[in-house]
Amino acid sequence: MRPGRADDLPAVLELWRSEVRAGRQDCVPGEVRLRQMLIGFDWSARSRMVEGSSGLEGAVLVSGRSTPDGTVTQVSAAGEGPELRRNLLRWGVDFSKAAGAVAAQVWCGRGHSDGLDKLGAEFVRPWWRMDMSLAGDLPNPEPVRGYEMHDGNRVAEGGWSDVHNRSFADHWRFSPRREDELTTGRPPGLCLMATATDGKPAAVTLCQIESYVEDARLQPVGIVSSVGTVPEHRRRGLATWLVAESLVRLRDAGARSASLYVDGWNHTHAYDAYRKLGFDLAFESEVWEANFQ
Ligand SMILES: CC(C)(COP(=O)(O)OP(=O)(O)OC[C@H]1O[C@@H](n2cnc3c(N)ncnc32)[C@H](O)[C@@H]1OP(=O)(O)O)[C@@H](O)C(=O)NCCC(=O)NCCS
Repeated sequence: MRPGRADDLPAVLELWRSEVRAGRQDCVPGEVRLRQMLIGFDWSARSRMVEGSSGLEGAVLVSGRSTPDGTVTQVSAAGEGPELRRNLLRWGVDFSKAAGAVAAQVWCGRGHSDGLDKLGAEFVRPWWRMDMSLAGDLPNPEPVRGYEMHDGNRVAEGGWSDVHNRSFADHWRFSPRREDELTTGRPPGLCLMATATDGKPAAVTLCQIESYVEDARLQPVGIVSSVGTVPEHRRRGLATWLVAESLVRLRDAGARSASLYVDGWNHTHAYDAYRKLGFDLAFESEVWEANFQ
């Protein structure tokens, strides 16, 4: 094993594609997401590569995000053979612990946990990708009385993170997001906010368009990536309104299908809202977590 370098990325993506073909991963991240993930990524400290005679045979990357409980890492490994993958995952979990993380998480396709229990991890969550086609009729965006909708062309800079973070504060493994994390790579017309009559923000939905190679979805894909309503404005139809409007805007911007990700045990039953809008479960991941606390 050797430390990774930024120029390993194309070969790492190739390994990742093999994971997707085998059903061990949902998809290779799209370009926008990948760029966000790799901003400031310290390849030499946080990744390891396994070289074989014909090139890269395995790779592991450890990213981290801060949560109110401390740093939670995400360990992503790719490689042929369960033993190689387990060794890579072990490196990632050990590294996370040594770096002071409170937990290390691993995402894998359902039934592909590769012995994560032997690394001290336990299954904590089903994680769903839900898809819908944007061909044909879309749900009608129904405005909610007493609220106005704005997009990123009208929301002042700095206006997104507070409402986003208040909406997600009770979400499983919440991590506060900075303004630039929320807006980078997202066209202003695909960032929607509902405000109440007093002008205070009540709900957000943020989207972007991604293209995926070797992917069964109609390309490009509109990603509905952050849907949140602050607690005092919930259950009035705001998320339904903003997501329905987002679907129309995504289609107008060229997307041919739409996807979103949701915690399969989401306590606010977000998946029900998405089902009613036309989304269906397309890929189920398992989230495993080694808890160091
Ligand atoms: C999920 C969330 C965005 C829903 O926002 P909302 O504005 O309240 O949603 P809507 O009023 O449009 O609700 C649509 C449907 O979702 C379902 N739903 C929403 N909240 C629910 C709850 N607490 N319990 C059960 N079902 C719920 C219902 O089917 C609801 O339809 P109904 O009110 O006609 O029964 C909001 O609860 C939230 O921000 N939760 C925390 C963050 C989060 O989990 N976001 C989703 C990430 S993928």
